[in-house]
Amino acid sequence: MARVVSGIRPTGKLHLGNYFGAVKSFLKMQEEHECFFFIADIHSLTTHPTPQDLHNNVHQVLAEHLAMGIDVDKCAMFIQSDVPAISELYTYMNMNAYIGELERSVTYKEKKNSQPKNINAGLLTYPVLMAVDILVHHGDFVPVGKDQQQHLEMTRTFANRFNHMYGTDYFKEPQAYSNTGELVKVPGLTGQGKMSKSSGDADTIVFDEEESVIRKKIMRAKTDAGPTEPGQKKSEELQNLFDIMELVSDASTIAHFDDLHQNATIRYGDLKKQLADDVVNFVAPIRERIVHFKNDKEALAKAAKIGAEKANESAVKTLKEVREIIGFKKFY
Ligand code: TYM
Repeated sequence: MARVVSGIRPTGKLHLGNYFGAVKSFLKMQEEHECFFFIADIHSLTTHPTPQDLHNNVHQVLAEHLAMGIDVDKCAMFIQSDVPAISELYTYMNMNAYIGELERSVTYKEKKNSQPKNINAGLLTYPVLMAVDILVHHGDFVPVGKDQQQHLEMTRTFANRFNHMYGTDYFKEPQAYSNTGELVKVPGLTGQGKMSKSSGDADTIVFDEEESVIRKKIMRAKTDAGPTEPGQKKSEELQNLFDIMELVSDASTIAHFDDLHQNATIRYGDLKKQLADDVVNFVAPIRERIVHFKNDKEALAKAAKIGAEKANESAVKTLKEVREIIGFKKFY
């Protein structure tokens, strides 16, 4: 049985990108493999949340995992900070990650631009912590969206470097995974690339949101001035809306609007209204379950406790073995 590891940062409510890039694959993988899914609360410290916000966000994302169908009897779903071995292994792995390669990370470069007043060391070594998350459970597969591809490459580099340095084959190379065979990139509504919390509220369709808010956001999504002649290529903004449609709408609906665009008779208002209906139909039942789980303290506590036990067992074993490989020997 393969081992599967993946994590989501608790920096707000989960959005369609998180679901289609990651959680949808988690649901499939938990049926077939030994899975470790976690809430990456240590990673989220790079954004300096207040203690209350940190806790609220972890609570939110934990409830959202349950609402989306993560089954704690089938996998280990845990909170990263509940597993101290991760932080210890992070210290060791930092010693063979080089500043130059960390500075070349796309995410680091983006953050450097977007938050120039908070370029902390945790941002630089973020890929090391992420590698540790995966290696500590000997992950074979890592279900993630396309934006995490480079981090997976770095994970393989760190694993191989450790093996080379200590003359061992202890860590294996994890592979990124997606249900569809290709890593997913869900576009945002503001036309700026991937759907992302950091692009602002208007960019994301989140599950735990009022229907009216979702509709408003979609109606305001960025488009172009409309096709002027038949057969015109779709603009990037319009393609984004079609891409989201691919995730939530019927094939016949998509074909219908595709035809209208081909004939240059499409009305974007109609397209957006249809998309809003289909998104709301998809999101609403999950939202109901989120509301339920957010109030189900017992289910949340049980999930976090079982997950911590399973994850600690696996991580402590790895850490013990790594300490031996590195050469930490007891004198007592
Ligand atoms: P994060 O919290 O930004 O996102 C969580 C997951 O959602 C995916 N995702 C998307 N997929 C497709 N389209 C989008 N627009 C989109 N937005 C987000 C991400 O690819 C991710 O799978 N570094 C990770 C968290 C992490 C992790 C790990 C993941 C920490 N340690 C170990 C895997 C293994 C992150 O910031 O994801």
